[in-house]
Amino acid sequence: MLKGTLITSRLLLKEAIHEECSKLKSVLHTWTDKQLVEGSGYESEEFEKWISEGDLPPIENACKENYRLKSIYLKEESKLIGYTGLYMGYPAKDCLWIGILVIDSGYRKNGYAQEIISRISDDAGANGFSKLGIAVYLNNWRALRFWTKAGFDRVTGISCDGEYEEEKFATIKLQKEL
Ligand SMILES: CC(C)(COP(=O)(O)OP(=O)(O)OC[C@H]1O[C@@H](n2cnc3c(N)ncnc32)[C@H](O)[C@@H]1OP(=O)(O)O)[C@@H](O)C(=O)NCCC(=O)NCCS
Repeated sequence: MLKGTLITSRLLLKEAIHEECSKLKSVLHTWTDKQLVEGSGYESEEFEKWISEGDLPPIENACKENYRLKSIYLKEESKLIGYTGLYMGYPAKDCLWIGILVIDSGYRKNGYAQEIISRISDDAGANGFSKLGIAVYLNNWRALRFWTKAGFDRVTGISCDGEYEEEKFATIKLQKEL
């Protein structure tokens, strides 16, 4: 599932390839508050590695066959405006995990991310998955608002270690039932 190119009304989600890495990096660099909201910069996004080896979750038997990195194109202009990384079967077998979703800042607030989640939800549901999952940094208010509006309304965990400190960053895990 989720193989090849997925089509929505305005977008194409294509399997990312090495030749796109510099464009993917350009999209990433429009995420100018990443360090502020996540506490880590652009070095955490390893497109070359993700394309060759996948970005695998910390579970036994994680494998690249269950991972997809999709480049998001505007259908009309063939312009690369974002990317998403997906893992089929994390944290449980029936859950499709959205590891990352980024839209170029110049193209946000057009409903593109919502269109992508809707397409992925349909595909996941049709292929026997019963939920979608994500983890989002608690300081990432824009994304929190997006995910909760998109139906990720079940809290399944909050990561935080030890006592609160200003330079520590926590994530919340959310699920959307399909
Ligand atoms: C989170 C993110 C992916 C959302 O992408 P997006 O394409 O802007 O999302 P949408 O357009 O579907 O929705 C965003 C907002 O635009 C609004 N919107 C949608 N279509 C609109 C339109 N035609 N006109 C005006 N506003 C619109 C939505 O209602 C939503 O409003 P809200 O912020 O009040 O909730 C994007 O902000 C992003 O890439 N952020 C940086 C990376 C990031 O944080 N990723 C998530 C990591 S977990």
